[in-house]
Amino acid sequence: MDAQQLREAFVKFFEERGHAHIDSASLIPENDPTVLFTTAGMHPLVPYLLGEKHPMGKRLVDYQKCIRTGDIDDVGDASHLTFFEMLGNWSLGDYFKKESIGFSFDFLTNVLGFKKEQLAVTAFAGEDGIPKDEETAEIWRSHGLKDDQIFFYGRADNWWGPAGVTGPCGPDTEIFYDNGQPKCGPDCGPSCHCGKYTEIWNNVFMQYNKDKDGKYTPLAQKNVDTGMGLERVCRILQNVPSVYESTIFQPIISKISEICGKPYEEPYIKDFRIVADHIRAATFILADGVVPAKVGQGYILRRLIRRASRNMSKLGYDGLFMQKIAEVVVDEFGDAYPELVRNKDSIYSSLTAEEEKFQKTLTKGLRKFDEMVTENGDSKVMKGELVFRLFDTYGFPIELTAELAKERGLEVDMKDFEARFKEHQDKSRMDSNQTFKGGLADHSVETTKLHTATHLLHAALRKVVDPNIRQKGSNITAERLRFDFNFDRKLTPEELQKINKFVNDAIKQDIPVVCKEMTKEEAKASGAIGVFDSKYGEIVKVYVIGDIDSELCGGPHVSHTGELEGFKILKEESSAAGVRRIKAVVGKF
Ligand code: ALA
Repeated sequence: MDAQQLREAFVKFFEERGHAHIDSASLIPENDPTVLFTTAGMHPLVPYLLGEKHPMGKRLVDYQKCIRTGDIDDVGDASHLTFFEMLGNWSLGDYFKKESIGFSFDFLTNVLGFKKEQLAVTAFAGEDGIPKDEETAEIWRSHGLKDDQIFFYGRADNWWGPAGVTGPCGPDTEIFYDNGQPKCGPDCGPSCHCGKYTEIWNNVFMQYNKDKDGKYTPLAQKNVDTGMGLERVCRILQNVPSVYESTIFQPIISKISEICGKPYEEPYIKDFRIVADHIRAATFILADGVVPAKVGQGYILRRLIRRASRNMSKLGYDGLFMQKIAEVVVDEFGDAYPELVRNKDSIYSSLTAEEEKFQKTLTKGLRKFDEMVTENGDSKVMKGELVFRLFDTYGFPIELTAELAKERGLEVDMKDFEARFKEHQDKSRMDSNQTFKGGLADHSVETTKLHTATHLLHAALRKVVDPNIRQKGSNITAERLRFDFNFDRKLTPEELQKINKFVNDAIKQDIPVVCKEMTKEEAKASGAIGVFDSKYGEIVKVYVIGDIDSELCGGPHVSHTGELEGFKILKEESSAAGVRRIKAVVGKF
């Protein structure tokens, strides 16, 4: 069975069971600025899982394009992908565990032809006052699974979500394919990475909502959210060692081989895989309207393109090649994702422009890198100053410097690089503020106050108006802050008054503003809000204002809210569809 047959079989199976087929949503989440990309099929459905009525009904099915950027550096092995497709079916307050497991079992055994002995499943072991999921185990037994095919795990393994920082989540039952090899040891089970078990489907019983304080409250409706990895299932059905040998990747791999003149075999396999994964992902990201940029989704896109370029060069090919591969992607996936065909001209032109730009940077940068290694002398650690110069003067991406250094057995002084990077950021922020001559003596002090005011305003909007409000944009000059946020109507005068009061009360209380450094994962777990795709290393800063606000942010901020003296909203207006804008100032009024 190839990918298109699998997509069709999945959709048909669920349509026959009363599910409406919905389109794959954009890779760019519409309502969740806490993540850069759609990471799961349920992501675009969050409002409906929380209780809003879906126009297509209570049973849905789709295949959804997804990007997970956390693993970019692991791409190249047999299993990691940045872009992947998730097949999913949902019950929005309709059926629950029994039917959901029944559907999955039926589809796997009767449509895909798995034998029940080839399956292993997990269920929630119970934790934090949420009971062990015996019901799920019993349902699996009723389908003929034996006790040694059913495993219980705790929250770390058998709990899914939320997709971003807040939102719907719940215990799940994960379905694994057991390839029949002997257990690697007495503790071997689905959570073991020896290769015996491959997760193919995850059925989440979404019963809880996690809020920004990390609290779980039961949802008004019990939902089912499932996700099946299309590439993995194709790999198993086609009986090949990795997805790159499956029909999904073979046309792309062949094209790379044709261009670079090398066979897909050692020592080239990893480079082939990186080029294939990254160009496929980049083509899909471009199709959703993202262009290469210094921040956000555009930065991930740029990283993918640059890394692909570099790995193609390792395969001995330095000419332009990306459009040729993107053409294969458009050809292969255009039926399932028509936006690829619709936007192919702009995909090709952006891709080639970025490729050309990077080739110039790369040629110059590689020469400079060699010079700097010499300048660095015998030390095994490359000085932050040199690395920063490569970045600042020659536009050489830090990831690439780190990778090149690693190839030479060198490390990079990331701490020093980051300190320099931060200094540079602050300076350019100050420089750009110089253009706003408002008669204020020290612009940086004013903008710092406004920056803290922005956090307080963000918190006030969530508290007073709607907990789902998130930042959509922010612009600060020495005179005023401008804050864009998702919300679909004009705020009332009473709401504006309450927001003003909330912020001014926080200022009166003179609350300390504390900067905490922690890993991205710790920040997420602490319930901080913000964009979690940190670019420069894993340590992030979280600014905490008492119990009012906790946000991932580069700063700078004032040390106590009292420094703002007062806060006043000047204007509330529409900014774009579904986005409102507030302009506000700080000072004594
Ligand atoms: N949302 C669930 C997952 O991504 C199904 O695994």
